[in-house]
Amino acid sequence: MSKPKGNRIALIGTGFVGSSYAFALLNQGVADELVMIDVNEEKAKGDVLDLNHGKVFAANPLAIRFGTYEDCRDADIVVICAGANQKPGETRLQLVEKNLKIFHSIVTQVVSNGFDGIFLVATNPVDVLTYATWKYSGFPKERVIGSGTILDTARFRFLLGEYFQVAPQNVHGYIIGEHGDSELPVYSSVDVGGVSVMKMIEQNNKYSQQDLDDIFVNVRDAAYQIINSKGATYYGIAMGLVRITKALLHNENSILTVSALLEGEYGEDDVYIGVPAILNRNGIREVIELDLSTHEKELFHKSANTLKETLAPHFM
Ligand code: 2OP
Repeated sequence: MSKPKGNRIALIGTGFVGSSYAFALLNQGVADELVMIDVNEEKAKGDVLDLNHGKVFAANPLAIRFGTYEDCRDADIVVICAGANQKPGETRLQLVEKNLKIFHSIVTQVVSNGFDGIFLVATNPVDVLTYATWKYSGFPKERVIGSGTILDTARFRFLLGEYFQVAPQNVHGYIIGEHGDSELPVYSSVDVGGVSVMKMIEQNNKYSQQDLDDIFVNVRDAAYQIINSKGATYYGIAMGLVRITKALLHNENSILTVSALLEGEYGEDDVYIGVPAILNRNGIREVIELDLSTHEKELFHKSANTLKETLAPHFM
C-alpha cells in the first residue's frame, strides 16, 4: 500500500508488549500511521480491529492497519517486540538462543524489503538483541536503538519520588548497564530538583543509603515480581517505547537511557548497553558519558562483560 503523508511505524510482534505499545501510541498521538505485523496474523488483525474501535475516543488521529514485511520499506521506525518472553524464575539472558533465531529471520526480512529507517528493539535480552539487529542489518549504529534501561530508570525515578515525596518527573537519575541482573544505579548523579541525593542523605537523618539500596533492589527485581504476579510486564515498557518513538519522530534531542553501541565511551567497545543518550530524528546523536565513581565504573565494566560473554559465542 502506498504511504500516506506523515510518519509510519511498523510494529513487529503484537503480543503483550507490542499491543500495549500500539494502545499507548494511539492514546498519545505520537505518529501518523501504525502497521501491525505478527507471525500470528489473526492476532494482529484482531488487535487492529480492537484499536480502531477505540479511535473515536482518541484525541489524535492514528491510521492503524494490519501489514506485512513489505510495509517496512516506507516505515520511519521499525519497532520489534517479537519473541519469547520470560517465564517465572527465568532470567532475560536465558532467552538468548530462542530470540536470536527469531531476530535473524525478522531483521533480514525487514532489510530485504528495503527498510531504511530506525530500528527500535524491545525484546529481551534487549542489549544482546539490539547488537544482533545492528549486526544482521548492517545499519549504522545510530539507527539501531534498544529500549535499554529506560524502564529501569523510570522505576527508579518512581520509587525515589515516593521516598522523597516529590513527583517522579522532578527526580533525575539513571540506571545504566545491562537491562537485567547486572544493571546499576548511578547514585553519584541522582538529584531531586537539583539537590544531590548524596547530600540529602548526609544532611537529613530521615534518609539513608540503606533505603536507597533497597530501592535499587526493588528496581532491579521489579520484572520478576510482576512476572510472578501476572505472567508478564508490558504497560511500563510500552510507555517507555512510546517515549523513545516521540523523541525520535519529533526530533527532540532528548536524553533517555537506551541501549546504544559503545565505541570507547565508558572505556568499553563493541557492546550495546544501557546508557543515557541524546535522541533525535537521526537516531542516537550522542552517548552521554557520566562521571562515574570508581565503584560505579567497576560495576558498569562487569555489566558490559556479562553482555560481551553472552554475545561471544554468537558473534565472534
Ligand atoms: C521488564 O523489565 C521484563 O524486561 C521486562 O519489565
